[in-house]
Amino acid sequence: MKLFITGGAGFIGSNFIFYMRRTHPDDDLVCLDKLTYAGNLETLAPVMNDPKFKFVRVDIADRKAVCDLFEAEKPDVVVNFAAESHVDRSIENPAVFLETNVMGTQVLLDACRIYGIRRFHQVSTDEVYGDLPLNRPELMFTEQSLLHPSSPYSASKASADLLCLAYHRTYGMPITISRCSNNYGPYQFPEKLIPLMIANCTAGKPLPVYGQGLNVRDWLYVEDHCSAIDLILQGGKEGQVYNIGGHNEMRNIDIVKLIVHTLGRSEELITYVTDRKGHDMRYAIDPSFIHKELGWLPQTRFENGIVKTIQWYMDNRSWWENILSGEYINCYDRLYGR
Ligand code: NAD
Ligand code: TYD
Repeated sequence: MKLFITGGAGFIGSNFIFYMRRTHPDDDLVCLDKLTYAGNLETLAPVMNDPKFKFVRVDIADRKAVCDLFEAEKPDVVVNFAAESHVDRSIENPAVFLETNVMGTQVLLDACRIYGIRRFHQVSTDEVYGDLPLNRPELMFTEQSLLHPSSPYSASKASADLLCLAYHRTYGMPITISRCSNNYGPYQFPEKLIPLMIANCTAGKPLPVYGQGLNVRDWLYVEDHCSAIDLILQGGKEGQVYNIGGHNEMRNIDIVKLIVHTLGRSEELITYVTDRKGHDMRYAIDPSFIHKELGWLPQTRFENGIVKTIQWYMDNRSWWENILSGEYINCYDRLYGR
């Protein structure tokens, strides 16, 4: 089986590549990545010389390049992680979110139509459902919840989901979609809450908490997300949406304090800053459908996962320090020349 993994030089895509190498060593993996600021080839160093792995620098919105690659490689499965993924950036500049997240997904779907595919899996997010109020803890997102995105990022992801569903209905495209809650773990770009707080804390820099820090996210260890996608690829039903989450709701301020204490720093580093525009209050996923249908359950408890994650960032300082210094950008040129 040959898989195209788009966005594999990013956080979840790279973890998925490592997961698949371990659990399906016979599969051929081709990583398609544009290497935007969020893509880091250094992350893929452990698989770069693996004969069953190939890296191709390509923009998923580049129709000709994508079609040429489909023609040359003839993938059986596409797992689409490639996206602009940071809400704050989408508020600053929405256009690139539409180009990659919507148009890029459409280019991939068209290539799958032309060349044929066994499965197209769209990696989506719980953010497409909008947010939930803090005072109704019993409410959770199910696969039937309405799409009600708040940010340009989540609107672009919801649009891509709708395109996938339309291609299934109209052309019989064998798609599946997963909508996962916030991930954490190794190789997450240090602009997102957890790695940013670890990096700033280590450097003794202020820890910027938006608003009052009372917003709630439902955190899942990245490897549990990978195992869920793997199960969906194996046993998921075409045209189906699967919610993925770990029943692990935490307030931002509690996460930040946990990181401060684990790293032995002072809470005085915590700095309350202007809130994000349109900031979603609470996300909470009901994962009972994927549990019932595919037997998926998360394996990593948050107390263990967060300690493992902090330790990983301590043991791999050069990985994120190269990002902060900008040095990681040169990795592609070092490996492939300009
Ligand atoms: P990321 O920003 O770490 O990585 C995105 C990757 O996509 C990067 O390697 C980047 O270079 C690549 N990319 C961007 N534009 C591209 C383009 N036009 N063509 C080819 N490659 C391109 O993101 P992530 O956190 O790993 O998220 C991966 C996917 O999972 C996204 O679709 C995101 O919406 C979804 N998701 C993320 C989370 C989370 O908590 N991080 C939760 C649920 C769903
Ligand atoms: P983030 O990691 O950007 O993920 P998302 O917005 O997709 O949930 O942010 C997680 C939460 O942390 C979100 O409520 C915004 C908040 N946050 C801060 O308070 N400070 C920060 O510096 C960042 C990056 C996020």
